[in-house]
Amino acid sequence: MSWPYKDLLGTRELSKEEILLILHTAESFKEISRRDIKKVPTLRGKTIITAFYEPSTRTRVSFEIAAKRLSADTISISGTTSSAVKGETLKDTGKNLESMRPDVIVIRHSMPGAPHILAKALASSIINGGDGAHEHPTQALLDLFTIREKKGGLDGLKVAIVGDIAHSRVARSNIFAMKKFDMDVTCCGPPTMIPPFLEDLGVNVEYKLDKALADKDVIMMLRIQKERGGVSVIPSVKEYAMLYSLKEEHLQKANNGVIIMHPGPMNRGIEISDAVADGPYSVILDQVENGVAVRMAILFLLLGGES
Ligand code: CP
Repeated sequence: MSWPYKDLLGTRELSKEEILLILHTAESFKEISRRDIKKVPTLRGKTIITAFYEPSTRTRVSFEIAAKRLSADTISISGTTSSAVKGETLKDTGKNLESMRPDVIVIRHSMPGAPHILAKALASSIINGGDGAHEHPTQALLDLFTIREKKGGLDGLKVAIVGDIAHSRVARSNIFAMKKFDMDVTCCGPPTMIPPFLEDLGVNVEYKLDKALADKDVIMMLRIQKERGGVSVIPSVKEYAMLYSLKEEHLQKANNGVIIMHPGPMNRGIEISDAVADGPYSVILDQVENGVAVRMAILFLLLGGES
């Protein structure tokens, strides 16, 4: 099976089969990443630009490592060092970058829909590395890869996503992807961090942390999205931490073998305690490792590879 689209903009529009194609392809790339020599010639001669207009550690570095492990050439630009600061529009920047004949542009932007604007305007493949509070598809795909690896499958698993759901692109992309596998998703947080449309997506809503965690196979903790106004919708961060920080004692409520996830960056002591983040149920660093394999698979498939 080959990839049917020019771009990867979100998980909402992907089928279960297309998600499984990426996860299956990523398995062999994970094996390559664990070799002594972590490089294959698969994308030699291809050029990949990462254009990040918002800060990033994991997404940007793992796309660049993924591209380099496939022997592609990579170039990075950032919002603060590009000519965007001189008033150039996103579309003009995209058209100018495209004149240099890149094959893929990975973009992160604070404006929801920014990757979609480039995807319409350019012939290059566009990958959404996170657009405002809208979608972060590669994060959700690496999350599903990690869940499948740790739990042996996806269908029917019970998941709690806890935190600032309203401002989280990670939550949205995960919900869209998880519901394709009939996963039982419960979102938990203060009422002001729970958007009104969630139940229409087939998601349960629970405001009490203890109740949300009962019988769960997977717990995904999210940070407060300060950059999108998350702090302004709660009385105080201290109160939030008292009510929603995941501590060791909460894990008794969950199923045996529960896994604890976090997309990063973590705000330790606010949404998650040190003991849980660094404890035996945490798969947070596995998520980061798997991000490279999943992004290698996405680059490979978008550039014409077949699983
Ligand atoms: N999970 C995630 O997107 O992390 P970065 O912001 O560091 O890329």
